[in-house]
Amino acid sequence: MKTTNYSKIAEKYDKNQYRVKEISIDYDLKEYMDNNRKTEYHVLDLSCGTGLYLEKQSNYFEGQHNIKWNGLDLSDQMLSKANEKVENVELVRADVVDMPYESETFDFISNNYAFHHYTDKGTALNEISRVLKEGGIYKLHNIAILDMPKWWLYHYFPSAFYEDLKRYWNKEVIFNELIARGYEVDLKIVYKMENIKVMDYIVYAENRDISVLNLISEEDYKKGLERMRFDIKTNPEKTIVNDFAEMFCIAKKE
Ligand SMILES: C[S@@+](CC[C@H](N)C(=O)[O-])C[C@H]1O[C@@H](n2cnc3c(N)ncnc32)[C@H](O)[C@@H]1O
Repeated sequence: MKTTNYSKIAEKYDKNQYRVKEISIDYDLKEYMDNNRKTEYHVLDLSCGTGLYLEKQSNYFEGQHNIKWNGLDLSDQMLSKANEKVENVELVRADVVDMPYESETFDFISNNYAFHHYTDKGTALNEISRVLKEGGIYKLHNIAILDMPKWWLYHYFPSAFYEDLKRYWNKEVIFNELIARGYEVDLKIVYKMENIKVMDYIVYAENRDISVLNLISEEDYKKGLERMRFDIKTNPEKTIVNDFAEMFCIAKKE
């Protein structure tokens, strides 16, 4: 599989308004703390990127619980964006397969839109298990590409689907790999189908912060953009059917 160079994306990542708007309060974290009363919690946002999750949660939970916030990411450029947003968060640059933490450090590990980037997913899961406390939660959230073949991005950039097939584990593999490591797993897919206006989506294609748009060839990227522009020029109101599927997987370490 190809890997994404986030030093090139960091500057434009938060310009994608979808990312900023879709970040919501983590009620799974809240539920975990409500059900497991402790004087202190250690939370890691794994592959924290520009800190969108950490900013939202650390503001929301401030004063409610004693939480030590941590963020880890492979990219210095993404981390420097995170550093501008959050205070009182321990940010580290490291690879998921070799995290600089003691074993059994964290109560809760969130992992948003990043698992497909890991080239050695088995070792990543072993390392996550190592740093997670017994009874702790690993929350894996990502798009579920096999449940969204009509995603607007695959419609206009079809080679992106083939690149993604090389990067994403399907839900059965994720479920089985977590079970094999002794987790109790609750995995759900939230799916929606809707008609979208192409005009509203070209901004995301042009911003090119979605990793797979940097993995396809320049020729395929240009072709896709031209097709979008042509469709909009021909009919500014043009709509297409769009699939979107998100996987939420809550894995409790037994
Ligand atoms: C799509 S971004 C997601 C960022 C953030 N979680 C969010 O939801 O906005 C993927 C992130 O994974 C990080 N990443 C990729 N490979 C990694 C690895 N091997 N170890 C740690 N982080 C990695 C990238 O640097 C990037 O910041």
